Amino acid sequence: MIDYLEIGVAQGKHMLEILRDKNVRYVGVDRWECVPLKHEHNKMRNWDTQEKWDEVYKSVLQKVEPYKNRASIIRGNSVDVVPTLVNKFDIIYVDGDHSYEGAKKDLELALTKLKENGVIKVDDLHYSDVKKAFKEFVKENDVEYKGDKIWLR
Ligand SMILES: C[S@@+](CC[C@H](N)C(=O)[O-])C[C@H]1O[C@@H](n2cnc3c(N)ncnc32)[C@H](O)[C@@H]1O
Repeated sequence: MIDYLEIGVAQGKHMLEILRDKNVRYVGVDRWECVPLKHEHNKMRNWDTQEKWDEVYKSVLQKVEPYKNRASIIRGNSVDVVPTLVNKFDIIYVDGDHSYEGAKKDLELALTKLKENGVIKVDDLHYSDVKKAFKEFVKENDVEYKGDKIWLR
């Protein structure tokens, strides 16, 4: 089985794509919280009430239900949740907080949960803050990278 962690689930679009592979065991983390979003995608700018985010969260609960034997979602801030995860992962998809500080922190947390031959994949590298976090992270850690993927040296 491939252990897959997604940081930033939103409405579960990527989650459903990934779960099509029966060899994937999936954990998704998202806060589903209405906070001012300087960095998020346009669609999420319209998710401007907590009710809307609660609705999105509930829809993800329904989407994940058919896969509950190999998928779970955890609602909370990645900074609080990721350190509590007991397992390590083969693939960690970092697509949560797109601020410089948030992306850097998520990368640092992801590294602590990566299996020896695992890969971290970072979304939205065209965001200047995410790119800055990525560049600093690869410089400061004993990792290699190509494109949007990072692995242990
Ligand atoms: C771009 S969306 C994720 C899209 C999803 N990965 C996909 O491709 O379908 C970013 C998500 O990250 C979540 N997020 C942002 N900062 C977070 C944090 N610190 N902890 C947990 N989730 C966070 C937001 O709530 C939002 O749902």
